Amino acid sequence: MSDQSHSASLETASIEELRERLREAEDTLDAIRSGAVDAVVVGSDDDRRIYTLESADRPYRVLVEQMQEGAVMLSADGTILYANERAGQLLGTQVEHVVGSAFSAFVLDGQHARLHELIRESATGTARDELTVLSVNGETPVYCSFKALESERDQDRLICGVISDLSQQRQMEARLHQAQKMEAVGQLTGGLAHDFNNLLQAIHGNLELVKRAPSDPERVLRWTGNAMRAVSRGAKLTAQLLAFSRSQKLELKPVGLARLVHGMADLFDRTLGAGIDLRLELGDDDAQVVADATQLELALLNLAINARDAMPTGGVLRISTLAWTITDDADLADGDYVELSVADTGTGMPADVAARAFEPFFTTKEVGAGTGLGLAQVYGICQQAGGHAQIESSPRGTRVSLFLRRSPAAAAAPDPSASAVVNASDQSAPRILVVDDDPDVRTFMVETLVSLGYRVDSATGGRAALHMMASDPPDLLVLDFAMPHLDGATVAKLARSQGLQMPIVFASGYADTSALDAAMGNNISLLRKPFSIGNLSAVVAAALG
Ligand SMILES: Nc1ncnc2c1ncn2[C@@H]1O[C@H](COP(=O)(O)OP(=O)(O)OP(=O)(O)O)[C@@H](O)[C@H]1O
Ligand SMILES: [Mg+2]
Repeated sequence: MSDQSHSASLETASIEELRERLREAEDTLDAIRSGAVDAVVVGSDDDRRIYTLESADRPYRVLVEQMQEGAVMLSADGTILYANERAGQLLGTQVEHVVGSAFSAFVLDGQHARLHELIRESATGTARDELTVLSVNGETPVYCSFKALESERDQDRLICGVISDLSQQRQMEARLHQAQKMEAVGQLTGGLAHDFNNLLQAIHGNLELVKRAPSDPERVLRWTGNAMRAVSRGAKLTAQLLAFSRSQKLELKPVGLARLVHGMADLFDRTLGAGIDLRLELGDDDAQVVADATQLELALLNLAINARDAMPTGGVLRISTLAWTITDDADLADGDYVELSVADTGTGMPADVAARAFEPFFTTKEVGAGTGLGLAQVYGICQQAGGHAQIESSPRGTRVSLFLRRSPAAAAAPDPSASAVVNASDQSAPRILVVDDDPDVRTFMVETLVSLGYRVDSATGGRAALHMMASDPPDLLVLDFAMPHLDGATVAKLARSQGLQMPIVFASGYADTSALDAAMGNNISLLRKPFSIGNLSAVVAAALG
């Protein structure tokens, strides 16, 4: 027999022996507890073991002393009667200082109520929860498990508690989370860089063509048209990112669903291609919901593109509406809703994909083919409008439903593309002051407003603008929201405090919703960047009344 196997069998033998002793100890302990005997002697003369209550309990005591979980015994009022060494470590002090203190003294203030609840619940079964214990080492997240020993009188009850340290687990979770975030950022930057490069390529290429042959009006028109299409694709992409980051201010208004969907028919046709049969089943023609119309269009476009991708050999895409009155729902407040659903007859998604599909940056598509933001945007806008989105998918197809709050029928919003054009030479034309730190944007706004017939001044920053307005107040102030030194909100506030009451238009590419909300007020409207000439002229005309 080799040395190794020899020692292995020795170990086995001693484990067997220890087991045997433990069993003996248990049996004996029962006998002693029941009061049948005071002590038990086991074995022969030369190997004699005497069990008493003390010696029989010892293996358990040693076990508890040694274990790497904290163990405590509490009285019914939560005073610590016993704590093992590990519990002392977790509570950041020596066992002698722990015993006699209230357990709650080591628990975060806000969790005392929960601790007392756990102690109460421990009378009827094992009560478990996560708590945070305080010590000189700081806060430690722990998992506590309490169980009371039976007793005749409530106040005599003893409660055994096991406390497990969760800090390592938390660190692992945080690391995993960070890794997932990095993976997402990697996917995002890869996908976005690719998309934006393509857009920049299209813009650059077409501008270069214009530069080469500027005198051919027909071709120039076509090339600039191509470049502008690339810009609007870029704008959609940033809108998606902003909707996802929730920093874009949603403009929640009543939106006529049928009108919105019909208005997109052209876009659907071009996006879907010939192999896909589009069917619109828009039940109630007048159904109005509370939503941001631009974002809702984008959501429908995202859903249509997803459906197209899921039906590479063609199929049916059905966009339908259905009215609901909802009560007692986990995701929706009680009230009237319209379900707007987009259903395809495509490949469907496996359950694990469906479960993660709303996650931002979750995509099964190749880099450059998808950023994984489509459904995140859909989910985000529903949520922000007080609604909800859900997915049903099977190998026969997918249905994404948007539940949107129904708004009481109201006058339809005016068509934003209709705008007033003012006579340029007219000295009575309204005077507008444009304030933007970006020279390209400023020049564009000034030129556009001049071409629309307004008289226009410009300033590169808030201070200059306030200075100009003090001597010669304009009829309208167009303010970039995010500017260095003085931001748009501050400039607006200062102007008002100087007694200037002219309407103000904030131009904002992105802005913290709360900052923008706080700055919005009477006679102040919002122009979202990037904007077209049509948007600018409509907002300006509306602001001027
Ligand atoms: N109609 C659908 N049929 C089958 N699978 C779908 C459908 N819609 C979404 N998916 C799955 O859900 C994933 C996430 O969709 P989402 O629209 O959020 O991102 P994406 O389409 O991959 O990228 P992006 O929309 O940003 O271009 C998709 O990659 C796809 O696997
Ligand atoms: Mg998509």
